[in-house]
Amino acid sequence: MTQLRVGIIGCGNVFPMHAASVVAREDAELVAVCDIKKDRADQKAELYQCRAYYDYLEMFAQENLDVIHICLPHHLHAPVAIEAAKHKIHVMTEKPMAIHYQDAVDMIDAAKEAGVTLGVIFQNRYNPGSRLIKRMLENGELGAIKSGKLSVTWDRSDQYYLQSDWKGTWDKEGGGVVIDQAIHTLDLMRWFVDSDLKYVDASISNRAHEIIEVEDAAEGVIAYQNGVVTAFHAINYYTYDAPVEIELHCENGIAKMLADQATVTLNNGQTFIADNNPLETFTYEDGVKGYWGVSHVKQINNFYDTLSGKAVLDIPAEEALKTQQMINAIYQSGKEKRRINFNRESD
Ligand SMILES: NC(=O)c1ccc[n+]([C@@H]2O[C@H](COP(=O)([O-])OP(=O)(O)OC[C@H]3O[C@@H](n4cnc5c(N)ncnc54)[C@H](O)[C@@H]3O)[C@@H](O)[C@H]2O)c1
Repeated sequence: MTQLRVGIIGCGNVFPMHAASVVAREDAELVAVCDIKKDRADQKAELYQCRAYYDYLEMFAQENLDVIHICLPHHLHAPVAIEAAKHKIHVMTEKPMAIHYQDAVDMIDAAKEAGVTLGVIFQNRYNPGSRLIKRMLENGELGAIKSGKLSVTWDRSDQYYLQSDWKGTWDKEGGGVVIDQAIHTLDLMRWFVDSDLKYVDASISNRAHEIIEVEDAAEGVIAYQNGVVTAFHAINYYTYDAPVEIELHCENGIAKMLADQATVTLNNGQTFIADNNPLETFTYEDGVKGYWGVSHVKQINNFYDTLSGKAVLDIPAEEALKTQQMINAIYQSGKEKRRINFNRESD
C-alpha cells in the first residue's frame, strides 16, 4: 500500500494525539516532525523514528509531504496552512481554525485553489454522547430545539499561563477561555442547533488572572436564524475542570450533556444515555491527559479516509468556519459592547 508522507508541526501538548493517530494507520507514515524548540523536535523524532526539523519551510522543501498536522500556537495556524496549500500538502489543523475570521476564509481559499483537503479538529463531535443528541435531533425524536444553555467552568492557573510563551496573549492565542477552552462546547451547541447565526451579544472580562491580557470570563447569548436562542457562560478561574454542561430544551424532551455523557429524557418518559465506552481505548504516549479521550483518532481517521476516497469529511473547513465566525463575534461584541447582527445567507 502506498503510504502518505506525513509531517507534524508543533511538538507540544497535543502532539501525541496526532502522532499516535497517524502511526496507527497503514496508509500513512510519519516521516518528519518540526518544532522551533530543537529539543522537542529531536525528542519526538527519536521516539517516532523520523526526521526532526526546526523550520517548517525546510521540512516542506525536503520531505515531499502529502499531509501536515498543525499543532501550533493559534496565530500560526493560518500562515502555515496557507503555505502548506501552496506546496500541495493536505492540512489537518488543531482548533481554532485561526485567530481572525478573514484568515480562516483565506485558508479555505488557499486549500481550494491548490486542490488539497483542509480539516479542523473538533474532536468532541465524535463523543458517543454528542452523537446521541445529534442523531435524536436529526431523526426528529427530540423535535425542534426551543432553547439551549451551556457552561464551561475550568481551571487555568497562573502557572498554566506562565509555562507558555503564547497563551494568555491577544496576538498569539487570540483570546482566552472562549477561543481556547469553551470553543469545543460552543461548537457542539452550534452543531446541534445547525443554523446560521442571527446575532451574538456577549461580554468578556478578565476577573482573576492579573498576568494575562485576555479574558478569563465570558457570557452571552447566541441566537440563530432558525429562532433558537442559546446562552453561554465560560470561566477559566474555577478550582478544577468541572464537567462541561449543555442543555437543550426541545419540543419532545430535554437533552443534557455533563462532560461527555449525554442523557436524553423525552416527554413520554423514555430516557436514553450515551457515554464514552470504557472498552474503547487508544494508547497515546505516557502522560497524555485522559480527558482528551479517543475522539482525536476518530476524527483523524475520517480525515485520512477522506483522502483515500473512502469517506466524506465529517467536519469540512467551511463548517469550522462557522464556529470561527461565532467565536470572533463573541470577541467583537465583548470588545465593542454591542450586539453583532448577521444577515441571512440568502439576504
Ligand atoms: N483539540 C484539543 O482538545 C486540544 C488540546 C490541546 C491543544 N489543542 C490545540 O493544539 C494547538 C497546540 O496547543 P499545545 O497545547 O500543544 O501548545 P504547546 O505550546 O504545548 O505546543 C506548541 C508547539 O509549537 C511550537 N512552535 C511554536 N512556533 C513554531 C514554529 N514557528 N515552528 C514550529 N514549531 C513552533 C512550540 O515550540 C511548541 O512546542 C493549539 O491550537 C491548541 O488550541 C487542542
